[in-house]
Amino acid sequence: MFLDRSSALDLLILGKIAKLWKRNFNRKMKFYEKIIRPILFLLDPETAHIFTFKMLAIFDRVAFLNKLLASFFNFSDPSLKQKVFGLNFENPIGLAAGMDKKADLTLTWSAFNFGFAECGSITYQPQPGNTRPRLWRLPQDQAILVHHGLGNLGAQASAKKLAQAKNRFKRNNILSLSIAKSNEVSMEEAAEDYTKSFQLLAEYADFITINLSCPNVKNFCGLQNKTLLEPILIKITNINTHQKPLCLKIGNDLTKNELDDIIFLVKKYNLAGIIATNSAKDRSRFNFKSKNKDKPGGVSGKPIAQRANEIIAYLYKHSENKFKIIGLGGVFTDTDAYKKIKAGATLVQLATGFIYGGPASIKNINQELVKLLQADKLTHINQAIGLEANNYHLF
Ligand SMILES: Cc1cc2nc3c(=O)[nH]c(=O)nc-3n(C[C@H](O)[C@H](O)[C@H](O)COP(=O)(O)O)c2cc1C
Repeated sequence: MFLDRSSALDLLILGKIAKLWKRNFNRKMKFYEKIIRPILFLLDPETAHIFTFKMLAIFDRVAFLNKLLASFFNFSDPSLKQKVFGLNFENPIGLAAGMDKKADLTLTWSAFNFGFAECGSITYQPQPGNTRPRLWRLPQDQAILVHHGLGNLGAQASAKKLAQAKNRFKRNNILSLSIAKSNEVSMEEAAEDYTKSFQLLAEYADFITINLSCPNVKNFCGLQNKTLLEPILIKITNINTHQKPLCLKIGNDLTKNELDDIIFLVKKYNLAGIIATNSAKDRSRFNFKSKNKDKPGGVSGKPIAQRANEIIAYLYKHSENKFKIIGLGGVFTDTDAYKKIKAGATLVQLATGFIYGGPASIKNINQELVKLLQADKLTHINQAIGLEANNYHLF
């Protein structure tokens, strides 16, 4: 195999980072937090993201490097394996939508020990999203303000990339694709728009998520309204002839009545699950300390964790075991993940926690989850689901 000069340089840099990483990882030094994150955090968040993805792309292209990466991060334990939606999950920790909007690293996420990864959100029409800057870190608050506006390649180009990745080498984890309404399409035409994306993308995903809750696109969250949501579900369930599991991704600001409507529809159309929650739109409950606190966008990270847990518990208590809950919002550590599982989540995702904690955090969370189960005298993660749901009250 011949490499051009820039690929050879990338390889050289990666080799050095990998060596350092392995040395420090084994000593349990927080290499990402102490060395890599301070460098990345000197850059604007999106530039840091683009740079990191460029470096990581090689693990999606070269099978032996992917295996090498997996050997650093590999961790597996029978107590974490679950069959959910008829799919085998190695562990309950997943990458949340928004981290890989262009489905660039579908093969790399499993090497980082994610039990599953959700790519997108992808809209039928390609769209640039809002103008940059459109992401801000709030480090003192362990949060991020997201004003991205669903920029992505569009369903057609994404399907092409996914087909190429599928032919490169085998992925070891579960992949979900998140689909969203194109910005230029009216609310009334949303069902048709989602359906076109579903038709192009479903074959590449183990399950599909219908994102209804992007707080930084005008009117988008209105799709959570029963009258607008039902036609989308009718259309997609009608064409879902292969019975691909379907989930809905909902927001952090929903009222009890709105949640009741969603629960009703999820049961009526036999959907597999609800992903709760997206970033929060309502900032009145927060008191941020960080410099960029007045920038626009939805709030992700620690501040939204408590409300996300309340929503998860509410969904769990009303699910009658007819659908599963994927919980997210402010998961940084094993304790955060375990809280969501005890609130009622079967699986957990993280976005902001991954940006702050880096790739080693996934293996750490999984290792520590096993210890948390043992401390609670439980032998399997599914015994912890919903144990503390009654401790949460949604107002
Ligand atoms: C940079 C960024 C981009 C995001 N883009 C999307 C998206 O395209 N689709 C989506 O459903 N959620 C998106 N989200 C929301 C996350 O998936 C998640 O629901 C939210 O950030 C709360 O989880 P966290 O506290 O772990 O970040 C995005 C979040 C971040 C930080």
